[in-house]
Amino acid sequence: MSSPTPFDFFAPCPRGLEAVLAAELAEIAQGLPGAAGTPPFEVGAQVPGGVHFRGGWTAAMAANLHSRIASRVLLKIAERAYRGEQDIYALAAEQPWERWFSANETLRVDLTAIKSPLRSLEFATLRVKDAVCDRLRSVSGARPSIDTAQPDVRVFAFLTATVCTLYLDTSGEPLFKRGWRLDKGAAPLRENLAAGILRLTGWTPGAPLYDPMCGSGTFIAEAAQIALGVAPGVERRFGFEKLKQYDVSAWQTMKVAALDAKRRAGANKADLPIFGSDISGDMLDKARTNLARAGVPSLWLKQLDARAIVPPTGEPGILVANPPYGERIAVRGRGPRGEVREPRHASRDDGEQAFSRAQPDAADGEFFRAFGDALKQRFTGWRAFVLTADRSLPGQMRLRESTKTPLFNGALECRLFRFDLVAGSVKARPGSQEPQG
Ligand SMILES: C[S@@+](CC[C@H](N)C(=O)[O-])C[C@H]1O[C@@H](n2cnc3c(N)ncnc32)[C@H](O)[C@@H]1O
Repeated sequence: MSSPTPFDFFAPCPRGLEAVLAAELAEIAQGLPGAAGTPPFEVGAQVPGGVHFRGGWTAAMAANLHSRIASRVLLKIAERAYRGEQDIYALAAEQPWERWFSANETLRVDLTAIKSPLRSLEFATLRVKDAVCDRLRSVSGARPSIDTAQPDVRVFAFLTATVCTLYLDTSGEPLFKRGWRLDKGAAPLRENLAAGILRLTGWTPGAPLYDPMCGSGTFIAEAAQIALGVAPGVERRFGFEKLKQYDVSAWQTMKVAALDAKRRAGANKADLPIFGSDISGDMLDKARTNLARAGVPSLWLKQLDARAIVPPTGEPGILVANPPYGERIAVRGRGPRGEVREPRHASRDDGEQAFSRAQPDAADGEFFRAFGDALKQRFTGWRAFVLTADRSLPGQMRLRESTKTPLFNGALECRLFRFDLVAGSVKARPGSQEPQG
């Protein structure tokens, strides 16, 4: 189905990445062939946590397939002022959900709210679910089953203090799940946060990119896919494929083009100037597997302590890192007296919760000071970007940041610190040791 009627969509993203998501959506819109009768893809307002856009199914499908920064693509179904749960029920019960899915599909309803006066958001969620089920039963005689783990269809309700908006999800699994990550490693960065950071650094394909604490390889896999034109969603399915209406033939054309691009990328023998290292051989094995599954040729990967790094190439470029922080994953390597330091806690995969309880350890200071010295002494001309929840990091590295950008890694407030390692003008912090060699 190709509808000339444009729809309103909302693409949520990690907070702090709204502007780069809007720029990315504008590029995706430009890359779409304009067909007669297809509504234009118009990027709209940025709001905290996402970007609105308008267009036909082609816009929604292209955003799902090509956006590296969006977390989802949501189709706006209805919006109205509310005062209580009954208003929310009525709004949801009025919507022709049967146009999009039937009672044969399993359903999940999620609700988020900012400043809602309602006493129980759980109860409000149940009312939306009841309304959708009641509506389908009244038109078809059957209610959909609820499946919170792997639903066919997801409905999202968003409440402000006065307005309820209902969305139908077109993505399914969140878009940061690209489909290439087999092994998560200990503390992987979400792919869409990594891709947004790459855009914030101003890195462009062709310029050197180095992650000296690459872990499972998220930054370098994203960068290599960008350099080779591999669509982030080429290996996965999307929620819209379960809906009654979407533009099937346009989707097949888009998907075939994306698969062809991935095949060409796999055959590309060019050496990309994208480099990764980590102190852990296990992590590098995971990175190699992830890179192969992401359809990119093998990159330069070395087992190195970040305190001992040297530029992997003669031309200065962008260094980007997400160092260990607190209990989530500890700094490893040898301490100042040569002692071996092991992580204080076993690797955890429970993401932000563990991360948000984390506190840096005083002993990490020695590592960051030595890492800062390595940058000052050997990376002249590079720009370094470090993502951390530890605001004292520039002080520990004895470097003064040029910019700091607030970003959210899930619920955890982080900063992306930028250090310009320009010859003769590295801004040292008071009390720091100047470069010695
Ligand atoms: C937060 S993780 C990075 C995760 C990575 N961005 C990803 O998406 O998988 C920190 C990484 O720093 C590495 N690391 C710890 N101590 C190190 C050291 N002294 N030198 C280099 N890497 C180190 C760990 O092995 C881990 O892979």
